[in-house]
Amino acid sequence: MHNHVLASAPSKVILFGEHAVVYGEPAIAIALNLRTSVMIEESSEYSVDGKPLDEKYHKYIKTAIQMLWDGKPLEIITASVVPSASGMGSSASITVAMVSGLLAMKGKVNEREVALKSFEVEYATQGSGSPIDTSTVTHGKGILVLNSPEEKLLWSVKKGNTEWHIHHLELPKLKLVVGFSGIKGHTPEMVKKVRRFYNWNSFARDVIKEIGKITLRAIEPLENEDYEEIGKLMNENNKLLTILGVGHPMLKKMIDASLKHSYGAKITGAGGGGCMIALTDEQDEVVREIEAVGGKAYKVEISEEGYTIENHL
Ligand code: MEV
Repeated sequence: MHNHVLASAPSKVILFGEHAVVYGEPAIAIALNLRTSVMIEESSEYSVDGKPLDEKYHKYIKTAIQMLWDGKPLEIITASVVPSASGMGSSASITVAMVSGLLAMKGKVNEREVALKSFEVEYATQGSGSPIDTSTVTHGKGILVLNSPEEKLLWSVKKGNTEWHIHHLELPKLKLVVGFSGIKGHTPEMVKKVRRFYNWNSFARDVIKEIGKITLRAIEPLENEDYEEIGKLMNENNKLLTILGVGHPMLKKMIDASLKHSYGAKITGAGGGGCMIALTDEQDEVVREIEAVGGKAYKVEISEEGYTIENHL
């Protein structure tokens, strides 16, 4: 038992398979070195960053506490460099930081438990979605989601009829640039929009399956550092995401601008705003191109570290 803890978690981008993963299709995501930290300490009343704990502003923190904590009230201080509602996993990042911190305060914490509980917290808060974000942010590095267990399985998750098997994926050092449109994306709304299309239209179901196939085709080029092929597959994945209706004119502008200096580029995350991602050898040029059309660009690196815990403040 500890009465205070400092926990942190990275953010993430999805390289392949967003939206399709909600239906159990394969997907690949990596953790990013932009982190969220929480300092949690027992106190006389609940507060977050000096303000009362509020359902409206602290949804994920509140749900995590409701689901995992029955001790004294907590004072929580947060610090994050992840832009919110951007598609970079800001909600998964705060959720995993909170969940790992609360589990550590209760005295037991391991990666699998953090991933599974974090998915429950995110799902309860958003009412939809897959475990890809919370699993990536928990584990760090790269992950591959498959519909059956294979070598390098980390954990499996089931919700209704859908099963996700989360695997560790060894990745080369990818030079990536993330472009934020400045327009907040609303993940649950975008997931719902795709769900309506999926339920109603067999063409949409085919598109989802096709995205799953692209993800599988990306595994080998990722292992072999075949950037040309990875880029081509990112472009194909992007076309299919656009067909699903999760594009946005600002995302398109940034993608087109980045392609001059990139192997490939695509929407990343839920879309409808939020972020795009480009794979490149020329990060500085891509940053410049994205900012020239009004986006905010981040040169990003894979985070080897998933969640971290420090008990001795
Ligand atoms: C959001 O980062 C990824 C989506 O596939 C939703 C999910 O998997 O929960 C759009």
